[in-house]
Amino acid sequence: MSPDPAARTVLVTGAAGGLGRAFANGFAADGDRLVVADINLEGAQQTARGIEDTGGEALALQVDVTDPASTQAAAQEAAAFGGGSIDVLVNNAAIYGAVTRSPFEDIDPAEWDLVMGVNLKGPWLMSRAASPHLDRGGAIVNISSATVYSGSEQWMHYVASKGGVVALTRVMARELGRRDITVNAIAPGFTLTESSRSLMEDAETYGVERGSLKRASEPEDIVGTALFLAGPHSRYMTGQTMVVDGGRQFI
Ligand SMILES: NC(=O)c1ccc[n+]([C@@H]2O[C@H](COP(=O)([O-])OP(=O)(O)OC[C@H]3O[C@@H](n4cnc5c(N)ncnc54)[C@H](O)[C@@H]3O)[C@@H](O)[C@H]2O)c1
Repeated sequence: MSPDPAARTVLVTGAAGGLGRAFANGFAADGDRLVVADINLEGAQQTARGIEDTGGEALALQVDVTDPASTQAAAQEAAAFGGGSIDVLVNNAAIYGAVTRSPFEDIDPAEWDLVMGVNLKGPWLMSRAASPHLDRGGAIVNISSATVYSGSEQWMHYVASKGGVVALTRVMARELGRRDITVNAIAPGFTLTESSRSLMEDAETYGVERGSLKRASEPEDIVGTALFLAGPHSRYMTGQTMVVDGGRQFI
């Protein structure tokens, strides 16, 4: 298939499954060209194949978002695939399901560093690597978490890392705004993915009663907000974090 010159190039990190795969599929369904990046190359390749099977264009890449050289190589490959530039970066990769839950006094300092490295330093490094390839009119969408606003107990390193994502979204919005690039974040509530299911036995019903909409969240429930924040209808919006949690909490 020859590349569609009108298609945007969208780079999604952590797209081997879960929310990242749903974002990639959503952008592809909108006609965008996808770069599907993950530390799990096999999973990224599965996502890319799924997109190609439905007539889309996708490139699977292995990236470690904690590694400056790896993020730079991924951004360069993505831009080359995009004919010289990247239009949208979705910073979704994170350590999530594997994070140990414990009182803050008991968090292992090594795990603290790992979580901060992937969840907070990762979006910085990936954005830094993508920045020279982003044209005017581009967008970055960072994936934070509604746990930042609820202050979920026994998960301080994860919650703090996602709070940091809200903060770096604001700084990047100011710095990249000069180039007409928007930077916004999504704070999803508890959403059913393999990772979130591994966190608790009652995942299907967890938090549903606290919500205004009395049903669990599927990854596809979050996708529309990412399309909006990366699309033409939100061009005057930047530095913001949108909570998408079925009305479980209001900020
Ligand atoms: N599922 C939820 O309930 C929920 C709620 C709020 C926020 N989030 C956030 O949404 C995002 C996706 O969550 P998910 O449930 O799909 O989890 P997930 O574990 O399926 O996705 C995370 C992805 O990041 C990848 N990854 C991990 N370390 C990496 C690294 N160093 N470099 C590159 N890729 C790496 C993993 O391989 C995985 O594919 C995460 O940022 C998570 O924190 C999830």
